[in-house]
Amino acid sequence: MASPPDTSKTTKLERYNSYIRKVNSTKLIAASSKLLFRVTLLVALLLIFFFTINYPPLTSEKTFNNNIHTTTHNLLSSTIYGGGASWEKQVRHSSTPHRPNGLSVLVTGAAGFVGSHCSLALKKRGDGVLGLDNFNSYYDPSLKRARQDQLTKHQIFIVEGDINDTELLKKLFDIVPFTHILHLAAQAGVRYAMQNPLSYVNSNVAGFVNLLEIAKAADPQPAIVWASSSSVYGLNTKVPFSEDHRTDQPASLYAATKKAGEAIAHTYNHIYGLSLTGLRFFTVYGPWGRPDMAYFFFTKDMIQGKSINVYVTQDDREVARDFTYIDDIVKGCVGALDTAEKSTGSGGKKRGPAQLRVYNLGNTSPVSVKKLVAILENLLNLKAKKNVIKMPRNGDVPFTHANVSLALRDFGYKPTTDLSSGLRKFVKWYVSYYGIQPRVKKANEGEK
Ligand SMILES: NC(=O)c1ccc[n+]([C@@H]2O[C@H](COP(=O)([O-])OP(=O)(O)OC[C@H]3O[C@@H](n4cnc5c(N)ncnc54)[C@H](O)[C@@H]3O)[C@@H](O)[C@H]2O)c1
Ligand SMILES: *[C@@H]1O[C@H](CO)[C@@H](O)[C@H](O)[C@H]1NC(C)=O
Ligand SMILES: *[C@@H]1O[C@H](CO)[C@@H](O)[C@H](O)[C@H]1NC(C)=O
Repeated sequence: MASPPDTSKTTKLERYNSYIRKVNSTKLIAASSKLLFRVTLLVALLLIFFFTINYPPLTSEKTFNNNIHTTTHNLLSSTIYGGGASWEKQVRHSSTPHRPNGLSVLVTGAAGFVGSHCSLALKKRGDGVLGLDNFNSYYDPSLKRARQDQLTKHQIFIVEGDINDTELLKKLFDIVPFTHILHLAAQAGVRYAMQNPLSYVNSNVAGFVNLLEIAKAADPQPAIVWASSSSVYGLNTKVPFSEDHRTDQPASLYAATKKAGEAIAHTYNHIYGLSLTGLRFFTVYGPWGRPDMAYFFFTKDMIQGKSINVYVTQDDREVARDFTYIDDIVKGCVGALDTAEKSTGSGGKKRGPAQLRVYNLGNTSPVSVKKLVAILENLLNLKAKKNVIKMPRNGDVPFTHANVSLALRDFGYKPTTDLSSGLRKFVKWYVSYYGIQPRVKKANEGEK
């Protein structure tokens, strides 16, 4: 998936080095001029080095717009791990806490929906936050860039790179003794798994293992909180979903990779003493949300006067989701970080048992898709053109409902935003972000 590493600079360096060797071997030049020559070369090399490091990336986002999943290999972060003084400074500055006993958190997927909100919340209370994101084009990368701009305003630096990139992660842990990782980077989406199955394996399995390998070898080992998903409950019909219910019937490859993540987390906890907390998010929505999710593209299509597909089950029952507002999810993530115990291993060796947890983070009140559309119609002041169709059997489950009593018990998780209030905030953000004139009253129509 990733483009091959750019080795042209190392080749160049090697050529220079062998050139120096040749010059040395001639022994024709007097010792003093030899020294002068070496110094000149060294200076020249240093200049070339810094020039390459500080040169903007040669690849622009635009070239990749039609190319789903091209990892932009930024010269700054992914090729020259030597760092570059200004890059390292940004990495250090961003991850330094600004309160006593503040956390130092590596947030993967920081340009994503949940990652950007969590990064801001942590930074605002004084924790150090370093982002990591590959800005892939699964959905419009300009939205990820806009979220990055928000983070930049709050002094949060996002390293552009892949969680599957071992050298990059090593480098980051060499620079910063992270106390925590909030791991949110993943290939999300249920239906897209049929189009690009390997992207799920690369990010959600290989990338996660890579991250855990680095974390287990780090000294100190960080505590890790990561995003699993309610989709692990798969074809379960027992509701509400509780953490001890079975999760061995995933209905999509996405769900299967999240379930695999939970099993992998168990292994790293067991063998290496890593403190690991998996959070099963239930349909997260809100401002700066994901364009591939129904509430988002319903809003878009309804505003554009396009018809929308409203799913019912094969036996004509309503499809419903336990929609969870982003601020509630952020509180859950922060609560999980604050109650995460330290990892017990060091230098890749387990020293004692470590914490292993899994929590549902939902809203505890499922709402039908029909109701979702009705709320949006009301907020947008228009009537949706609905095609009611049977939900295809391609990964979506008919119903989700979270039991969150464990998260309540352990870190006081209590969702407070109902779907109408949350969608009101989403729509407000949507019309402002996309510069849409609100249709509040008929009288305003003429002004558009
Ligand atoms: N939003 C939801 O409803 C929901 C529900 C359940 C679980 N989750 C999980 O929560 C997490 C965050 O979801 P989100 O809604 O913010 O999704 P998102 O797609 O907006 O955010 C994920 C971010 O990770 C980045 N990324 C993906 N693969 C990467 C890689 N290999 N290396 C580096 N960066 C990479 C993407 O560019 C993106 O910015 C994900 O793990 C997702 O599976 C989300
Ligand atoms: C992730 O790493 C694995 C193992 O090194 C490799 O096979 C795979 O191609 C990598 N994927 C990406 C997206 O870089
Ligand atoms: C919710 O989960 C808790 C703890 O896991 C359990 O004791 C309780 O019975 C569950 N509630 C319901 C309604 O299933």
